[in-house]
Amino acid sequence: MAVTHVAQAIKRPAAQASLSGWIHRKRASGGIIFMVLRDVTGLIQVAVKKDLVDEKSWQQAGEAAVESSVSVSGTVKEDKRSPTGFEMEASSFRIMHASEPFPITEYQSTELLLDKRHLWLRSQKMINVMKARSYVFRYAREFLDKRGFFEVTPPIITKVGGETGADMFETDFFGTKAYLTESSQLYAEAMIFSLERVYSFVPSFRAEKSRTTKHLAEYWHLEPEMAYYDNKKNMRLQEGLISHIAQRLANSEDIAKALGINPADMSAIRPPFKRVSYEEALKILNDKGFPLKWGEDLGVEHERALTQEENKPMFVYNWPREIKPFYMPINPKDERTVLCSDLQAPKGHGEIIGGSERVWKYEDLMERMAEVEKAKGVKFNMSNYQWWVELRKYGSVPHAGFGMGVERVIKWLLNLDHIRDAIPFPRMSNRLEP
Ligand code: 4AD
Ligand code: MG
Repeated sequence: MAVTHVAQAIKRPAAQASLSGWIHRKRASGGIIFMVLRDVTGLIQVAVKKDLVDEKSWQQAGEAAVESSVSVSGTVKEDKRSPTGFEMEASSFRIMHASEPFPITEYQSTELLLDKRHLWLRSQKMINVMKARSYVFRYAREFLDKRGFFEVTPPIITKVGGETGADMFETDFFGTKAYLTESSQLYAEAMIFSLERVYSFVPSFRAEKSRTTKHLAEYWHLEPEMAYYDNKKNMRLQEGLISHIAQRLANSEDIAKALGINPADMSAIRPPFKRVSYEEALKILNDKGFPLKWGEDLGVEHERALTQEENKPMFVYNWPREIKPFYMPINPKDERTVLCSDLQAPKGHGEIIGGSERVWKYEDLMERMAEVEKAKGVKFNMSNYQWWVELRKYGSVPHAGFGMGVERVIKWLLNLDHIRDAIPFPRMSNRLEP
């Protein structure tokens, strides 16, 4: 088998290899040019020796600047002195494309790295995060597909708000006011009446101005919706999903190692996750010296105080009815609350999942929507919600679902400082480029 990639070459030292990649680093030392070559599978040191290659190879190796794309053939051997542990001795070297001086050097401002995002994606950090991101997408789908879920595709342009409706991007749709979806939940709900268990996995858009380390204006939103589920079953599905992603990532050793993650810690993220009611959470917070009154939402400092000591995510369930959306049903055992849960990541990484049962009876829904209008001082344009409300008229069933913010999960699992590094081209209130 021809050895064409760095990872293969390292597994089969002494083999002849023909590698294509990019020059990651370069230095010359007398009659030898040392390079570190990068391809998708890793890094390897390459030594081009004047005495051992033809004249053209020597000349091109001399000319090739960092980030040039190149092809190099030679023999690989283990070499303790090499920064990568292996060295390829080149027998031939060619430039595919000679790079201009690369604008990113060792120490750069965060702003420059964001402006040059299209190039910064070649950094070792971003390469590994983007691989892990791809795995998170794969493992999430894998978990749900195995359980008989169907992936469904909701529209992105819509007339309805899925949450508050207050932070939606407006667009002109052939003369009609339309919005970029803030949640696909309402459309996923429509599909359970034929497919029973579905998920949509598309972006949601939030026009929130808040500049925090966990808000994006465009994020990838995994939204499962299940017929006949109550919130207990809903929470079990959520912890199963998160645990599956963590187990599979823990076994992707290359990723774990590259990102400085301890696979044992990662694989300890297993069910059951702690469950505390909103009321209990208030008590815990008050005891910790972070006073919060009934009916108030958790702020960043509360989330941190609540989860700082945790190693696994934690559910906060049954929130006050006045601060949760119109589709959440009243808890019959405590009418101050609705049947819902938020999943909080450890160490203050914040809410990674929001889920609930759904109001599934027509009259209850009319009442709940009227109540939310009053509490929040909003007015639903009922003609836009007509189709969704109508689902409650034709063979409605109890159901539940949740929404997982993928970048929030990645930020937490990879312990990133900022959510923008969990997505290749972040969209934030102050960033639309590249
Ligand atoms: O809590 P949210 O707003 O809930 C919904 O949209 C429900 N309709 C979901 C459902 O039940 N189908 O958003 C769900 C999750 C949050 O827990 C968070 O992980 C993520 O979406 N999220 C964001 N991620 C990045 N940037 C933002 N601005 C986000 N807003 C929410
Ligand atoms: Mg939420």
